[in-house]
Amino acid sequence: MNILITGASRGIGRETAKQLTLIDGNKVIAVSRNKAKLEELRSECKALNGKSQLITLPFDLTSDNIKDELFPKIVHEVDHLDILINNAGFLVNKPFLELDSEDIQKVFNTNLFAVIKLIQMLLPLMGKHGKTSIVNIGSIGGYKGSDKFTGLSIYSASKGALSTLSECLAEEFKDLNINVNCLALGGVNTEMLHQAFPGYKAPVNPEQMAAYIVDFCQGEGMQSSGKVIVPDLW
Ligand SMILES: NC(=O)c1ccc[n+]([C@@H]2O[C@H](COP(=O)([O-])OP(=O)(O)OC[C@H]3O[C@@H](n4cnc5c(N)ncnc54)[C@H](OP(=O)(O)O)[C@@H]3O)[C@@H](O)[C@H]2O)c1
Repeated sequence: MNILITGASRGIGRETAKQLTLIDGNKVIAVSRNKAKLEELRSECKALNGKSQLITLPFDLTSDNIKDELFPKIVHEVDHLDILINNAGFLVNKPFLELDSEDIQKVFNTNLFAVIKLIQMLLPLMGKHGKTSIVNIGSIGGYKGSDKFTGLSIYSASKGALSTLSECLAEEFKDLNINVNCLALGGVNTEMLHQAFPGYKAPVNPEQMAAYIVDFCQGEGMQSSGKVIVPDLW
């Protein structure tokens, strides 16, 4: 399968990219800004499976020239996509009144607007050679009716918008052979979590989370669309 995953340089995205790359026959395109970390992941995958195919495309997904710079590199590698995992994310933990416009822009640019631009750009590669599964990585904080956390208003709002976007696109793409789902994750032990909540230890590690995502995007994500799912790991 041809797979593109964003935010693959660390945390949940790195582990998910690694597990998907180690499955024979998969070609995985990994996008995030840190070139050295992407290269490190590629070497690690090669050492574990000499036939593995991990293509690393260092890129800032919030930049304006995504279509001119990133798209040609992607179509150079694949003529279609079976799976797109929008995992890259950014979190600000600050009281609402202390948020400045830079915080708000950065959170929404990364967690929502970049996803919109990427899906619009990649649509010509989807649904043409069988089903394409889009999996958006949301958060329990953006899940309707969930417990909310002080300091996470703008982050949670961006993830709430992402889950609504997923439901809307599932409807809009239903005749295009494209499924869109959103996974609303709870706490996972990554640098993002530890920077936002120093000292807190979550019950789930990136390897466990990645195994769930890998299973989901190849299984239920291919069967159903329009779901916002809280994985049963917490
Ligand atoms: N960890 C949790 O407890 C938790 C809970 C709920 C939801 N989530 C969601 O799960 C996803 C992964 O979280 P994580 O904990 O693994 O986070 P993380 O450790 O902070 O990793 C975030 C990834 O996103 C990439 N990224 C950020 N901004 C980017 C940009 N402008 N362009 C390209 N790539 C960018 C980063 O790579 P570069 O720095 O190299 O660009 C990094 O690979 C996020 O969407 C997060 O909101 C996490």
